[in-house]
Amino acid sequence: MIIVLFGKPGAGKGTQAPLLAAALGVPTLATGDELRAAIRAGSALGLEAKAYMDRGDLVPDDVILGIIKQALGEPRAAGGVLLDGVVRTVPQAEGLEKVVTELGRQVDAVLVFDIDDDEIVRRLAGRTVCESCQTPYTGREPGSKCDKCGGTLIRRKDDEPDAIRNRLAVYEKQTAPVLDWYRKNGTKVAVIDAVGPVQDVTARALGVLAS
Ligand code: AP5
Repeated sequence: MIIVLFGKPGAGKGTQAPLLAAALGVPTLATGDELRAAIRAGSALGLEAKAYMDRGDLVPDDVILGIIKQALGEPRAAGGVLLDGVVRTVPQAEGLEKVVTELGRQVDAVLVFDIDDDEIVRRLAGRTVCESCQTPYTGREPGSKCDKCGGTLIRRKDDEPDAIRNRLAVYEKQTAPVLDWYRKNGTKVAVIDAVGPVQDVTARALGVLAS
């Protein structure tokens, strides 16, 4: 089972990914988390990605396709994987399709978490994330501790107002067209109302996958 989690920045992909993964018994791959880990490690990948991410721009397709190819080839992905924010341009969708086809697999569904821009700005303005395990929180101050791993909560640089505006514009221009690509490709695309209690959103997503 290969599922693509899709949606605007702040739609709740990172919140839903571990919940859905636990329910489905598959691991997650989040390119945003991979890139932030590379930045923390000071690797060449991290150095290349940082400026793009701080501005809210997309990291080049070849970098993302390298991450996808490596991760899907790993044994832990053999039983399936949830791809959180991994596909954000049409070339990335085409590249993922090539990788899964070579592996004799397919993308089973694209889950689109639907939310309006006002709610996104409200959510991201109040978000902190664990700098170690990347768990997002609402209403928790920077410097407090992560419930999951004890790491320190920080504000993301790309959650500043200018970067949020840019991320939303980038989504409309470069990422939204991916949905038409998947529809034309014949892949199941399901739009899920992402507003409401977290567990309700999870239930809606699982309901769609079961149907
Ligand atoms: P990434 O880290 O993936 O950021 P994003 O897509 O902008 O998504 P976010 O993490 O901001 O939001 P989310 O949808 O996960 O929401 P969350 O669950 O945190 O990517 C960062 C950057 O990396 C990109 O800008 C780009 O530069 C680069 N990158 C990554 N992948 C790439 C790719 N494929 N190609 C090119 N570049 C790439 O929730 C947000 C807040 O809302 C939290 O505070 C949460 O607690 C709260 N919340 C969640 N659900 C609910 C709910 N139901 N009700 C109320 N509050 C809620």
